[in-house]
Amino acid sequence: MTSPALSYPEGSAAFPHESLVGIGGLAPHEILFLLDEAEQWVELNRHPQKHDDRLTGLTIINAFFENSTRTLLSFEIAGKRLGADVVNMHVAQSSIKKGETLIDTAMTLNAMHADAIVIRHGSSGAVQLIADKVDCPVLNAGDGQHEHPTQALLDALTIRHALRNKTGGSFNGLTVTLCGDILHSRVARSNILCLTSLGAHVRICAPPALIPADIEAMQAEVFHDFDAALDGADVVMMLRLQLERMQGQFIPSAREYRHLFGLTAERLARARPDALVMHPGPMNRGVEIDSDVADLADRSHITRQVEMGVAIRMACLDVLTRKVRRVEGWT
Ligand code: NCD
Repeated sequence: MTSPALSYPEGSAAFPHESLVGIGGLAPHEILFLLDEAEQWVELNRHPQKHDDRLTGLTIINAFFENSTRTLLSFEIAGKRLGADVVNMHVAQSSIKKGETLIDTAMTLNAMHADAIVIRHGSSGAVQLIADKVDCPVLNAGDGQHEHPTQALLDALTIRHALRNKTGGSFNGLTVTLCGDILHSRVARSNILCLTSLGAHVRICAPPALIPADIEAMQAEVFHDFDAALDGADVVMMLRLQLERMQGQFIPSAREYRHLFGLTAERLARARPDALVMHPGPMNRGVEIDSDVADLADRSHITRQVEMGVAIRMACLDVLTRKVRRVEGWT
């Protein structure tokens, strides 16, 4: 499924960026280009033989300085399905533990002639820092509280797939409610940028202490009452409380938080009858989302998000390495 109304500039002008550091800075047509590129990989991944050899001979390094299940595995699977040699740097056993700086680590990866580096780091801005130093494309797999662009892209692809009969693939006029720890969430930031850029209306909902100070600059409508935020929503995206990023007490207790901001079956009834339930994972069942909602066969798209994640990462790796591979017209 492509976006029929849209035609892209020729060759590399369709996606003129060297790296993928954030959704901020991407034009709507560049976002749609990546979504459209991912469609072929959604198809391929549903076949028993899931191999394409276009990245054969390329070396991709995954350098994850923070824990990850879905993002790390899907980048690894994506690279391997495209034929690349994928190497995962094990941070716990790396020289980072011996005091090496991030820049020195980046220069080391660069000297090994990596063709793409995928980075997850706890500091906002760390990925841009590395992208400025190395010669190859850098893909942000989450930097601090800043951005997680491939998550936002896979979320957009999931929404487009699930609602294509209703919307024809357009995001215009869709109401997407994001609820949870918006303040500490790079997923929320990238999703707000991505969905508003594509024409959706984004509502965010959290206790006042978990709303970022710069939210006014983003085109999201702020709610503190979850019932009101859910009213008529087409998509409900729940986010975990990022306790590891909290310094101090942001919520009185998990029990009270669930009472006010947890997605229960009763609450979900306030959204549209066919509203999609999404969560980037990892979920804290019984806190931000109840199990009976997370596991709703027809409404929950949480495992579909994981499926779309592999396709999106294949698209991003393919598009960003076209220059290195000297694909015709891609200058
Ligand atoms: C998210 C992350 O790491 O930012 N997870 C993910 O990539 N699927 C969200 C989270 O950790 O809560």
